[in-house]
Amino acid sequence: MALRSLLLYLSRRKRLRRWMETSPIAERLTTRFIAGLTLDDGLTVCDRLEREGILVSMDRLGESVTSLAEAEASRDSYIQILHCIASNGFDATVSVKLTQFGLDLSEAACRENLERLVSEAARLGKKVEIDMESSEYTDRTLEIALAMHQAHGNVRAVVQAYLRRSAKDIERMCELRMPVRLCKGAYKEPAGVAFASKREVDESYIRLMRVLLERGCYPGLATHDDRIIEEAHRFARERGIPPDRYEFQMLYGIRRDLARRFAAEGYRIRLYVPFGEAWYPYFMRRLAERPANLVFLMRNLFKG
Ligand code: FDA
Repeated sequence: MALRSLLLYLSRRKRLRRWMETSPIAERLTTRFIAGLTLDDGLTVCDRLEREGILVSMDRLGESVTSLAEAEASRDSYIQILHCIASNGFDATVSVKLTQFGLDLSEAACRENLERLVSEAARLGKKVEIDMESSEYTDRTLEIALAMHQAHGNVRAVVQAYLRRSAKDIERMCELRMPVRLCKGAYKEPAGVAFASKREVDESYIRLMRVLLERGCYPGLATHDDRIIEEAHRFARERGIPPDRYEFQMLYGIRRDLARRFAAEGYRIRLYVPFGEAWYPYFMRRLAERPANLVFLMRNLFKG
């Protein structure tokens, strides 16, 4: 737990981030979890996965931009990704963080940037998934996601099972027919806001997942947890919910075995594929989820 907290603390250090992202060993560090530093790298991975029958959501790494010009540049780079997805005939969605579109600087500008992206996606017949960040953003992110969904019908929101509020959010999303990605949650949150123990988070996930499977609108079950995945299969079988009514989602580089097996067995499985130069906070959150990854990382760094 202490190591997780330390890694999440380090994930927010700006100077360390600058140093790491420009380090000559960046590529060696990141290969496990990140498709590469460029859009071409991301598209190459997308192509390979789709050929294997695995769906993709592309994430151009970056969060907490510091100027509106940077936020607009983020928006434009996402519009470029959408055009590449469409021109290559890929089935992929894009995943975006609202702090990348300027939420910390101006909510109005962020909405405007997202509106441009979502309407372009709708024109191209593509979908946008809006990642969830730490709890200070939850209300604003869900409100903006809902407004976009109601205007264009091609948006998915994310709900984090570790938040105590999430049962209410899931109810509301089901009532409004809003597609949801359910994940456990990856940020450091105060105990009053989020469940702290793995047992409580897992129980919350299972409760919310059952509601989504029964009443949700094509939910994305984002987890690598065998026990939860087994429960999803069991519950869906018991209630006669067919596998095309939901999808599993996993992160690129984690449980590759499972993703391939699901695709082979005819389940819908989508991998979240991050790429780009602003990789540090994402990468540190992956280490925090499983500090044993540090061992793997060290091996990678020191091998030939
Ligand atoms: P848990 O952490 O209990 O892990 C279960 C098992 O999975 C582990 O025993 C291990 O085998 C494997 N595993 C999990 N993480 C690993 C890692 N980093 N390295 C190696 N193995 C690992 N969070 C958020 O706050 N906002 C968001 O928008 C998203 N979006 C998102 C999209 C997708 C597609 C996924 C899969 C996840 C997210 N997350 C997220 C992250 C999520 O909240 C959570 O932190 C991770 O998925 C890890 O939780 P698990 O459900 O896998 O369970």
